[in-house]
Amino acid sequence: MQYRDGASPATVIRREAYAAPAYLVDTVDLSFDLDPAKTRVLNRMTLRRNPDVAPGPLRLDGEELNLARVLVNGAGTSFKMDGNTLVLENLPEGTEPFALEIFTTCMPVKNTSLSGLYVSNDSFFTQCEAEGFRRITYFPDRPDVMASYTVTLRADKAKYPVLLSNGNLVDSGELEDGRHFAKWVDPHKKPCYLFALVAGQLVAREQRIVSRSGKEHLLQVYVRRGDLDKTEHAMNSLMASVAWDEARFGLPLDLERFMIVATSDFNMGAMENKGLNIFNTKYVLASQATATDADFANIESVVGHEYFHNWTGNRITCRDWFQLSLKEGLTVFRDQEFSQDLCADPSARAVKRIEDVRVLRTAQFPEDAGPMAHPVRPDSYIEINNFYTVTIYEKGAEVVRMMQTLVGRDGFRKGMDLYFARHDGQAVTCDDFAQAIADANPDSELARRLGQFKRWYSQAGTPRVAAQGVYNPDAQTYTLHFSQSCAATPDQAVKEPFVIPVSLGLVGSASGTALPLHLEGQATAATSHLLVLSEAQQSVMFTGIAEQPVPSILRGFSAPVILDCDYSDEELLTLLAFDADAFNRWEAGQRLLLRSAIKAIAGDADSTPAKPLNDALIEAMRGVLRSPQLDAAFKELVLTLPSETYIAEQLEVVDPQRIHAVREAMREQLACALQEDWEWAFEAHQDNGAYRPDPASSGRRALAGMALSFLCLAATRSGDTVWPGKTLQRFKDANNMTDRFNALQALVGSGHALGTQALARFHSQFKNEELVLDKWFALQGGMCDRGGQVLPAVRQLMQHPDFHLKNPNRARSLIFSYCNANPGAFHRADAAGYVFWAERVIDIDAFNPQVAARLARALDRWKRLAEPYRSAAREALVRVSSKSDLSNDVREVVDRALSA
Ligand code: TRP
Ligand code: ZN
Repeated sequence: MQYRDGASPATVIRREAYAAPAYLVDTVDLSFDLDPAKTRVLNRMTLRRNPDVAPGPLRLDGEELNLARVLVNGAGTSFKMDGNTLVLENLPEGTEPFALEIFTTCMPVKNTSLSGLYVSNDSFFTQCEAEGFRRITYFPDRPDVMASYTVTLRADKAKYPVLLSNGNLVDSGELEDGRHFAKWVDPHKKPCYLFALVAGQLVAREQRIVSRSGKEHLLQVYVRRGDLDKTEHAMNSLMASVAWDEARFGLPLDLERFMIVATSDFNMGAMENKGLNIFNTKYVLASQATATDADFANIESVVGHEYFHNWTGNRITCRDWFQLSLKEGLTVFRDQEFSQDLCADPSARAVKRIEDVRVLRTAQFPEDAGPMAHPVRPDSYIEINNFYTVTIYEKGAEVVRMMQTLVGRDGFRKGMDLYFARHDGQAVTCDDFAQAIADANPDSELARRLGQFKRWYSQAGTPRVAAQGVYNPDAQTYTLHFSQSCAATPDQAVKEPFVIPVSLGLVGSASGTALPLHLEGQATAATSHLLVLSEAQQSVMFTGIAEQPVPSILRGFSAPVILDCDYSDEELLTLLAFDADAFNRWEAGQRLLLRSAIKAIAGDADSTPAKPLNDALIEAMRGVLRSPQLDAAFKELVLTLPSETYIAEQLEVVDPQRIHAVREAMREQLACALQEDWEWAFEAHQDNGAYRPDPASSGRRALAGMALSFLCLAATRSGDTVWPGKTLQRFKDANNMTDRFNALQALVGSGHALGTQALARFHSQFKNEELVLDKWFALQGGMCDRGGQVLPAVRQLMQHPDFHLKNPNRARSLIFSYCNANPGAFHRADAAGYVFWAERVIDIDAFNPQVAARLARALDRWKRLAEPYRSAAREALVRVSSKSDLSNDVREVVDRALSA
């Protein structure tokens, strides 16, 4: 097999093989002469031998660098190259600090991978996580080497008036030939993956704040000149983040200045570089005219996420990349809690929880059941960039959430306090974190079962919990029997039982009321109980149960498991109508919808059932829609059908076209059966006041938008022209992007002829708005396929003058929307979707392996596909895999898919 960069064949990195660094770096003094074609980097470090490690050579990572000079204590020295690694053997004896000076050059303008130092829109940006710093200078590029940084930037003043790096600006001034400089000192030690620099023509929104402790700070959001009017929401989110972390966790901002910079060329969402967060424009820029409610919400949570990393990730960092979830799982948990705490009422909190669980189940559960399945703390990897996954992030957050559930909110705060008391300034492991939470709560169920609880870190796969209830009317007892299991995953055949917190309650099947829960032998009775499962089989008995109950299990989704429970339709309808837990109300509705879908899918294969939903379910859905108590956002979630991906996960053999057809039939049925209700819902959820993206008004817009798409869908069946006309009018008149885009989607999604007209108008109206153009492309790549027209349209759109393959946002908007998010159009019996996929993976891999490897994951679940899809998908994977010069990134993904 051939590998790229000749020197670096794919080697498997193992967690077990961790060894402490042979040398420690105390200080790093970097000088940059910034030039797109040839940037000079002078790196002067002080190092020491690590006294805890046997003496050996100093090995420095480097990639795509031109090495000009190496000096040790000011004098030339011998060195050798071991592949990409610079090896120094003749270093001073002993453990005294010594000076190492390395001079290299690199070529930012040619850097299309967006890792290391690169140019975007004539400005310089860096991205060093996970291993990009080695593309800037030779360095021990590993997170457990923490150093103090001083950075001097020099560049042409007219072209690059703004020069930024981590920490505080200590000096700046003019140089000869129209150049200038800025010198930055970061007061905190950090691993090199948190290094950042930015240089270019940028402007900033500024805000001075005073923290609880009375300290003053300057907050800045840097963007391109024309974008300043779209930064207010990001700034507000940043201020809210600072205040929240102080209030909830006692964690203050530890810098005089905190900067966010936006760039339109970025591989991921954003990056938490110390004091200088770099963001994808998608998660900074918003105005009512260009961003949807979802965009506003995402900005709030990503700004929060990166800010919260300042403590969880930066002050305490990871010992090695296997510990990635130490910072990512914890920080996702924190940003989820932040967004929930910003919600004014409990219903909005529940909506946020449902949305988070939906992400987990549609993206992480499939990952956990597929060829890329890995534990929250992986045991091995080839390319670490492939492990920035929903498992590390979202499942990792669920593991932290379970700890909070087991020790309580106050107990969790104590645990966090102890974590910082013990480990501030260190690079640590997931074990260290769990230990701190447990030690601060010695009497908790977590402390009692810590060793077993930590199986959540070591075992991959989604556990299944089966529950069965037995009611004894004579004894008035109700017993719930639980059993748990977990399927094998690649490299892990046998799983031991997990510690699973199960929050539960009982709803009277006749009364619909919450029944008091008397535990055998306990005096108190609440209406909710936390049962902690730890055995393969376990039971709990409640006494004094006067009527047949319906169990409400796993309230609030108290653990990331699949719950199997033999509910009758009636029982689910009872939960949907009466459960005190909003999450399980929604869940009951989803179970009913899912059940209908699965039944229809299993039915006569030659015809699509016209009406998969029974009358009782239709009436229940009408009841939710018309309910005077429930709020709009929650209604919209209940009435949203399970996604095609989620339905597919429930099936042994997946026929994507069949799933698509059945789901479309369900949509049509809801559209037609509830037509008058949708008309009412649309009219009743108009917002006439000023636009505000808060949960309540977003919820109203979401429900009105949903109503419009059902009304347009019903119209295409009945030939009605009123609603499509009204929708076009709404599209034209809308005073915000949410309403405008929902109307556009309703027209396009129903296949109505007016959709084409609206699409063209939308493009011309927003042709200068990059982020809106992304939506325009995404809508077309994600369009409902009626006769195979989507793929030719996507191919055509790739020729559009506004399509730029090298821009990750644009590539994702069209190609990922088609390959990863439009199963009904992507899985074609003629295999043309897979051919397109293989071509794009190979094209993109040539210039950006990280993005290509994410696209490569579109065929993860090929083994479950029915024929002819299965063979065709395999063929496409083989086609990619047989390319000789693939990146390690793509190779790891496709080879795992083929071998697992
Ligand atoms: N640490 C970033 C986060 O907040 C993730 C990230 C940003 C990243 N850019 C990256 C990871 C590039 C790998 C490569 O989640
Ligand atoms: Zn993160």
